Amino acid sequence: MNKAIILAGGQGKRMKADMPKPLFKVLGEPMLEWVISACESAGVSDICVIKGFKGEMIDDYLGGRYTTALQSERLGTGHAVMQGIPFLKNDESGNTLVLCGDAPFIDEATIRDALALHQEQNNAVTVITSELEEPKGYGRIIRTDKGISGIVEEKDATPEQKKIKEVNSGTYWFRTADLIELLGKITNNNAQSEYYLTDTIFLALANGKNAGAYKSPNPDIIKGANDRKELLEFNEYARRQVIDKHLENGVEFTCLDGVIIEREVEIGKDTEILPGTILRGKTKIGARCKIGPNVVIENSTVGDETIVNTAQIYDSEVAEGVNVGPFVHIRPDCHIGKNAKIGDFVEVKNSSVGEKTAIAHLAYIGDSDIGRKVNIGCGTVTVNYDGITKNRCVIGDNSFVGCNTNLIAPVKLGKAVYTAAGTTVTRDIPDYALAIERGVMKINEGYTIRKLKTKQGK
Ligand code: UD1
Ligand code: CA
Repeated sequence: MNKAIILAGGQGKRMKADMPKPLFKVLGEPMLEWVISACESAGVSDICVIKGFKGEMIDDYLGGRYTTALQSERLGTGHAVMQGIPFLKNDESGNTLVLCGDAPFIDEATIRDALALHQEQNNAVTVITSELEEPKGYGRIIRTDKGISGIVEEKDATPEQKKIKEVNSGTYWFRTADLIELLGKITNNNAQSEYYLTDTIFLALANGKNAGAYKSPNPDIIKGANDRKELLEFNEYARRQVIDKHLENGVEFTCLDGVIIEREVEIGKDTEILPGTILRGKTKIGARCKIGPNVVIENSTVGDETIVNTAQIYDSEVAEGVNVGPFVHIRPDCHIGKNAKIGDFVEVKNSSVGEKTAIAHLAYIGDSDIGRKVNIGCGTVTVNYDGITKNRCVIGDNSFVGCNTNLIAPVKLGKAVYTAAGTTVTRDIPDYALAIERGVMKINEGYTIRKLKTKQGK
């Protein structure tokens, strides 16, 4: 079976951080995750990640999803792959893809097409290359009439070799059994005294095996981030690629300022995205919506024709035709029904809100189930937490909750219930009832004038 080894041992000193470089994020996801997902989409899911600097952070991030192996000393790319030998020996029958965990733009097509060439040429190793206008710093591909003869690192290259524009991307397909054999032959006789994985090319040829190069039409596969400036450029680049895809799909953007859309987000046709909109994770936005300005939506679904303005929505579902905002916080586990209205200045948490219900101003709704066509008055609070436990409030269809009502949970309002403004509800209310809880209002006539006279000593 085919498998992959991802090199993620690097510290990235120039990042100036205590974190392995492949964990730095591009568009919300670690570069390592971009590489993993390229492997997965190319059908390679048996993966071993080689960790080194702060390896425990790699383990924490992966959470056991893939095998890892530790490279405790940084002795070169060949040495890094050697740490994966036990993983390779689990099954030597297929091919192994080796990739760099800090080059996030490797793509599925390149992986698949390179494998096809690798198998067609019956190669022990096939290096994936591309052409760069500025090849400085990369290993150069030495081509001959018959194919390739090797890869020369910048530091070991002659001035003539430095002119070659075809460079090593750092990604390779190996026949697994050959990789194990060739790793045993790599030495560190070079300018950097490192075990170079690139030596597998000439070693394969010297041992009567085939070696080849697959030139990818996509030079972005080479890009590896070394410092924060490059990381920012990667983010810009990835951001624009995602936005371009949505433009092609019929999404409207008039200004991209502050617009960040992560790559798994889906957006329907004719939806308008306004400045300051950040869409994260597995978010799905319907068609003909208006999202923004100043919106964060994470791992949530938003139905067609919904408006979200100046709001944050996390791990929730908002149905179609809803009007959210401005100044609204929808916290995890909410379900907002069709044509509801939420906000402004409203927080909703772990609650369901029925169709056509309006929570139009200044309210907190937590741990509650609100029916259809309910009106929640301004200043309503579901008092869901007594300092020890959290309890639920239930509000029946067609109820009218007066302004500044406190609902002390657990409490249940039946169908079409009224609460008078300012009521603190401490008991369940039956269907069709009015609950009013108020002191008797007194009017003390002439009070202000008497008070003024006392003050003036009259
Ligand atoms: C390597 C290639 C070069 C290629 C370039 C593409 C070698 C000898 N050279 O160069 O031909 O053009 O990648 O980017 O392979 N790593 C470890 N442990 C180590 C050394 C490296 O895990 O001991 C990891 C790094 O974290 C990184 C990857 O391997 O993810 C590549 O290492 P890097 O030092 O960037 O390789 P280069 O010398 O730039
Ligand atoms: Ca590098």
